[in-house]
Amino acid sequence: MPVITCIDDLKRLHRRRVPKMFYDYCESGSWTEQTFRENTTDFQKLRFRQKVAVDMSERSLASKMIGQDVAMPVALAPVGLTGMQHADGEILAARAAGNFGVPFTLSTMSICSIEDVSSQQPHPFWFQLYVMRDQEFLEGIIARAKAANVSALVLTLDLQLLGQRHKDLKNRLSAPPKLTPQMIADLATRWRWGLGMLGTKRRTFGNIVGHAKGVGDLSSLGAWTNEQFDPRLDWDKIARIKEMWGGKLILKGILDPDDARRGVDLGADAILVSNHGGRQLDGALSSIRMLPSIVKAVGDQAEVWLDSGIRSGQDVLKALAMGATGTMIGRAYIHGLGAMGEAGVTRALEVIAREMDLSMALCGHRRIDEVDRSILLVPEDFEGRWA
Ligand code: GLV
Repeated sequence: MPVITCIDDLKRLHRRRVPKMFYDYCESGSWTEQTFRENTTDFQKLRFRQKVAVDMSERSLASKMIGQDVAMPVALAPVGLTGMQHADGEILAARAAGNFGVPFTLSTMSICSIEDVSSQQPHPFWFQLYVMRDQEFLEGIIARAKAANVSALVLTLDLQLLGQRHKDLKNRLSAPPKLTPQMIADLATRWRWGLGMLGTKRRTFGNIVGHAKGVGDLSSLGAWTNEQFDPRLDWDKIARIKEMWGGKLILKGILDPDDARRGVDLGADAILVSNHGGRQLDGALSSIRMLPSIVKAVGDQAEVWLDSGIRSGQDVLKALAMGATGTMIGRAYIHGLGAMGEAGVTRALEVIAREMDLSMALCGHRRIDEVDRSILLVPEDFEGRWA
């Protein structure tokens, strides 16, 4: 068993153990990948202010997200095709998250279905919704989420159309994958992944197949998105979905203070500042750069969370110091899942918790909920002056 000390160790193993098509799906942004890159490099522009001679005993990362107790303010983000990174991936990740004490979010575009995740592991989870044109499917999936005791709905607003990721097109991404020469070559060295897939029946989009009518070629995510996702999704429809759901609502994919205000006026419990991990509008600013303006606009009325770019506990700490009250991680845990299944997700969470805890202490704090901007050195032009 290799010694895993950081998320990058898991990423290296992920790359070695999972077919290229799925590793690339995780590790891409849209078009030039500028936003994808800057999501992480902008975190590096923020620096910590070291504090000494303060009592660093009895520390706590415990917090709350939408009123729910969490072991640390880090939830697992919805990630499409998670069950292609490792057999039964969504079930394993939900179990690892629940055992650790953080929320897991199941994607609409998951491999394991809502019912699978609910019946195969004991923890409550959140569900991320993509709004489809098919009203019956929409009503059905909301009813299925309620029946599975889903505890919050995460409504994604930044993907009515799919941003182009070159690698997915070149790799002919599909789930299940086709047996191309590249896939056969991959399987020669990634036999563990192949055996896992042979051992499960969950190999395509479990929430969709058998539930949505007239689904054409599911294997091409781009074509299918264009065919099925509702390009007319607007604030009125969001309000109707909120009503249909009737529970806690997190609006994901907000990168603009005015949009955040609309979301809060509509009654969202949390606003998730996100550019979809740099996978949608390439050229948009990083989430961490946009965060302060959104906290300023709505931070006193709703929880403001951040995703996109977090690869360490230090990044989580920086996001919290910049005003977020919660965060989500995607790639950071997918690397763990691809590397080592459930144990890898647990390891990713442990790595992040330890990095966050030690860095918080070295900044002179003992409780994560007390951290504020004073632990940071922020470049004067960090947010930028844009006309
Ligand atoms: C889906 O959410 C994707 O980013 O591929």
